[in-house]
Amino acid sequence: MTAVVQDAYGPPERVLRVAEVARPRVGDDDVLVRVRATSVNTPDWITVAGVPYVLRLKAGLRGPSTPVRGTDVAGTVEALGENVTDLDIGDEVFGSLWDNTLTTSGAFAEYAAVPASRLIRKPAGLGFEAAAASVMSGLTALSAMRDVAGVGPGTKVLVNGASGGVGTLAVQVAKALGAEVTGVCGPRNVELVRSLGADHAVDYTEEDFTLGERRYDVILDNVLNHPPKATARALTPTGTLIPNSIGVSGGWFGALPRVARATVMGRGSTDVRSVPISVDREHLTALATLLESGDVKVFIGATYALDDAASAVAHMLGHHARGKVVITV
Ligand SMILES: NC(=O)c1ccc[n+]([C@@H]2O[C@H](COP(=O)([O-])OP(=O)(O)OC[C@H]3O[C@@H](n4cnc5c(N)ncnc54)[C@H](OP(=O)(O)O)[C@@H]3O)[C@@H](O)[C@H]2O)c1
Repeated sequence: MTAVVQDAYGPPERVLRVAEVARPRVGDDDVLVRVRATSVNTPDWITVAGVPYVLRLKAGLRGPSTPVRGTDVAGTVEALGENVTDLDIGDEVFGSLWDNTLTTSGAFAEYAAVPASRLIRKPAGLGFEAAAASVMSGLTALSAMRDVAGVGPGTKVLVNGASGGVGTLAVQVAKALGAEVTGVCGPRNVELVRSLGADHAVDYTEEDFTLGERRYDVILDNVLNHPPKATARALTPTGTLIPNSIGVSGGWFGALPRVARATVMGRGSTDVRSVPISVDREHLTALATLLESGDVKVFIGATYALDDAASAVAHMLGHHARGKVVITV
C-alpha cells in the first residue's frame, strides 16, 4: 500500500516521503480501515519536527520509533479481527489511533489497523473529510468543555486560539452546551469566529484579554502565549483554567514550563485542569451526535492529497491554520 513514511526528525518536506509499504497487521481486536481521509494534529507535527526536543525521549531518540504519522481516520471497513463482531466489511467508520503515545499512529496511509474500541460507524450525512477532521480536535473540545469544565447554560467561556482546529470546535461545543463564548483570534479570523456562534470575538492584535475587565468561568488556552498567572487574572474567583498547548516555540521544552507553572498554580487557589483526550465509543458517539444535529460543524481550512502530506504538516507548522487541515487518501 502507499503510505507517507518518516525515518528522521526535521522539516516535513525533507523527512516525509511517499513509499510502498506492507499493509499493517490486523490484531484480533482491530479493524483494517481503507482510509479515505485523515487530518493533521499537534502530535503529528511535533513528531515530524521532533520538537520540543524533550519529546524525543518518548517518541524515539534519533527518529520516531514508528514510521507512519496520523491518528484521525475516516474510511471503510476492509477486514475485521476475530473478536470484532459489531462492524461489517464495507461499513463507513471514523475514529482514531491515538492512545496517548506519540508513535501509535499510521493514518497517513491507504490502510490503517485501528482498535475497534476507537471506531464507530460514521453518520451517513457526514463526509469522510469532516469526519476525519473532527476526531482529535473535536474530542479535545468535548472533553475540555463537557467533562473537564462542566460547561452549561450561561457559563462564560473564553477560547484562546479560537480559529484553529481545536478552537473552532471548542467554540461550537461550548455554544451547544449553552455557554456565552468569547473567542480570541487574529484579525483575519474575527468573522470566522463570529460565524461559528461566538458571542464575542477578540482580535489579539487590538486587545489583550488578560488585561481586560471581563471575567470568565472557563478559559481554554490553546496557545499559552501569556504566562498562566496573567491568564488566570481573567478568571472569576471560582473559574477554571485549562492550559492546552505544547506551544509554538519548539526548542527543548516548548510551552511545557508554562504548563508546569500552571499546574503548580493549580495546587493553590486557582482551579487548573488538563484535558485528557478520551478516544472511546462513548466520546465518539457524543461527537457524532453533535455533528449530526448540525450544532457543531467542522470548518476545513485546507485539504491536501496523501502524496502532498508534507505540505499539510508544513501548513500546521506555520501555527496559523484556519480550522482543520485535512489529507484525502
Ligand atoms: N489535550 C489534548 O489532547 C490536545 C489534543 C490536540 C491538541 N492539543 C493542543 O491544542 C492546541 C491547539 O491545537 P490546534 O490543532 O487547534 O492548533 P492549530 O490549528 O495549529 O491552531 C492554530 C491557531 O492558533 C491561533 N493563534 C496563533 N497565535 C495566536 C495568538 N497569539 N493568540 C490567539 N490565537 C493564536 C491561530 O489563529 P490566528 O491565525 O488567527 O493567529 C490559529 O488559528 C495545540 O497547542 C495542542 O498542543 C491538545
